[in-house]
Amino acid sequence: MKNVTIFGKGNMGKVIAGRFTHAGNQVTLLGSKDAVGTLGDIVVLAVPYASVDVILEANKAQLSGKILIDITNPVNFATMDDLLVPSDSSAAEVIAKKVPGAKVVKAFNTNFASTLAGETATSVLLASDDAQAKAVVTAALEGSHLVVVDAGSLKRARELEALGFLQITLAIREQITWMGGFGLVK
Ligand SMILES: NC(=O)c1ccc[n+]([C@@H]2O[C@H](COP(=O)([O-])OP(=O)(O)OC[C@H]3O[C@@H](n4cnc5c(N)ncnc54)[C@H](OP(=O)(O)O)[C@@H]3O)[C@@H](O)[C@H]2O)c1
Repeated sequence: MKNVTIFGKGNMGKVIAGRFTHAGNQVTLLGSKDAVGTLGDIVVLAVPYASVDVILEANKAQLSGKILIDITNPVNFATMDDLLVPSDSSAAEVIAKKVPGAKVVKAFNTNFASTLAGETATSVLLASDDAQAKAVVTAALEGSHLVVVDAGSLKRARELEALGFLQITLAIREQITWMGGFGLVK
């Protein structure tokens, strides 16, 4: 059992909370107006990419040593044609540089919220340079019905974010629905 703190009570925060809770973890959901107490072993950034910095700044000391899950898709919604991070980087790598003490794991960004609701055996891809952090997240999600897959180093967050971006554009262009998305066949 892990204590999990989730920043963001929106679509993603709620369904990720549901999966961690279902797997037997203790989850605290924090909205933008909630006071931040002691953070859990696992911290999830379920907020827009533009809101990440304020959370990192306000909690930098406490985030050191924590597993920090970045689920963001840093899409430039003004153009819908680019990501807001350099093409030779990713939101997860930018975050890792800003909070070097945290063990950053990219996860959930390729899963639309609706596909994480309920108990469907959706695949969740994890990218991190910290193998132990990936193992802890995988163990914490045992019993969640999610299929957790190790996607490699944190550098793979670039591909995960590209995949997340592509999936969003497919849904916007009505080539898939917001209930769909990429699946993984093992
Ligand atoms: N929706 C999807 O299917 C999906 C899929 C994959 C990845 N993502 C990513 O997941 C993230 C969240 O998306 P979402 O769809 O859940 O958005 P959402 O429904 O709009 O929820 C975002 C939440 O973040 C909260 N928030 C903003 N600043 C905060 C702060 N400083 N502290 C705590 N909470 C804060 C907002 O609360 P207030 O309203 O109080 O500001 C809001 O409840 C985004 O980065 C998105 O790219 C989304």
